[in-house]
Parts: sequence; C-alpha cells; structure tokens
Amino acid sequence: MRVGLFDSGVGGLTVLRACKRELPRATFFYYGDNGNAPYGNRPREEITALVDRGVEALLAEGVDAVVLACNTATAVCAEGLRRRLCVPVIGMEPAVKPAAERYRDILVLATPRTAESERLKVLIQKFPQCNIGVFAAAGLAGAIEGCLTRGEKFALDKHLPPAVTQAVVLGCTHYVFFRREIAAHYAVPVYDGNSGAARRLKGVLGGLDGDGEWSETTKTNKSLPFEWSECGEKGAVFLGKWAQINEKVYKQTFGTG
Ligand code: DGL
Repeated sequence: MRVGLFDSGVGGLTVLRACKRELPRATFFYYGDNGNAPYGNRPREEITALVDRGVEALLAEGVDAVVLACNTATAVCAEGLRRRLCVPVIGMEPAVKPAAERYRDILVLATPRTAESERLKVLIQKFPQCNIGVFAAAGLAGAIEGCLTRGEKFALDKHLPPAVTQAVVLGCTHYVFFRREIAAHYAVPVYDGNSGAARRLKGVLGGLDGDGEWSETTKTNKSLPFEWSECGEKGAVFLGKWAQINEKVYKQTFGTG
C-alpha cells in the first residue's frame, strides 16, 4: 500500500507517526510544503492552489490514498478533492467528539482558516450540551514551523489565550508537537485527531481490497520538480521544497525507524 500525506510543513509528521503505527507495512510519501508554510492565514484560493500542487505530486507516486494531514487543508479543500480524485481522501477532524464525551467546557485551538470554517461550526453544533470556544491562533503554526525547521525561538504562552477550560482540542497538526506544554499551560487534558485519522485510513484501505497489496519498496521519481529524500526502510519518502529539513525533523522527533 502506498499512502500520501500532505501538510503545509512539518505538522503532518505527527499524523505520519500515527499512520505508521496503524499501517506498519505501508509505504508513506510525505509532502510538506515548508516553502509556503504557514497556510492558516492565507486566502482560501491560495491554499487550494498549493494543496492541489502537493496532492498532484503525491498522486504521481501512485498513492492508494491521500491523507490531508493538515486541518487547514482539510477545512478548505477536502470536499473538492473528494469530488475530483479517484483515490480516497482522509481529512483531519479536530477531536471535539472524544473531548465532549467527557467534558463540558472545551477550548479548540486552530488556525484562522480552520477556526472560521463551516466544517468546524457543523462539528461543534453536534454537541449543544457543551460550551465550546474556538480560538484562532494566528501565528502559532508558523512559529512552530520556524522553531522545528530553522531553530527559531518562540514563546508558546504568548500564542495561547487565557482560558478557564476543562479540556483543550488541538485543531492544527503543528500544535501536536507541543501537546505536553499546552496541557501543562492549561493544566487540563489535551485531545488531537491524529489517531482518529490513522484509524480511518486503515479502515478505508482495508475496504479497498481486503488484505491489500502491501509493499515495502519505496519508489522515488527523480523527474519530479522537487528535492526528495528517503528516510530509512521503515520511514517515509519526503517530497517538497525542504525535504531534507523534513527528514531532519522527522529523525529528531521519531528516531530513525
Ligand atoms: N498543520 C496545519 C494544520 O493542521 C497547517 C498550519 C498552517 O500552515 O498554518 O492546520
């Protein structure tokens, strides 16, 4: 099985980790559009054009499914891609449901485009018994991207709104890197949608053709107009402008396996 993951940068690596856990034998292709990150404050049309380009690169690798490992890309593009592509498209869903099953007061942190999205509004409306606040953290994803790829320092606390809440939901895959710090900041449990997305991916691929045609081999396509690199036999093939940096962050974060 070949799986393509897309994110504006390094945030989707946290989703890749969850997907690798669910599907240890699949071959993963990861497109992180670091050169254009962050996406969260961009107009929708720009995000759509950038996501289309990244997804095309993944399709050129012959992937069996595309994971939009980015809440912003999901909020803006998932429906359009699902109508257009002939492979399944798995999107991110902020983990409001598991949080709402246990808590009443919930804070969702997200990028501006995700925070204003119809998709998030519809999700929140499903839990009228809860008091769910949404905060658009305009600079946080970019600060995390800069920190992990360029070693830039940033003050996490300055990006987090003051809030009294019982649980926090991370509506951006970049934030998952700072999950522990965010939990400590609010002193409450933190939820993310990564394992949910990984399970949906497994379910979707399982439904495609039973046990599937599993493949350990990684194909690289040097004709692509991107730099690329491979990261270990159990790792991922990185596509995108700063593929080498993705690989470095990947290894720092998850080890080499
Ligand atoms: N990781 C992304 C998300 O989940 C993108 C953040 C950004 O580029 O602004 O929304």
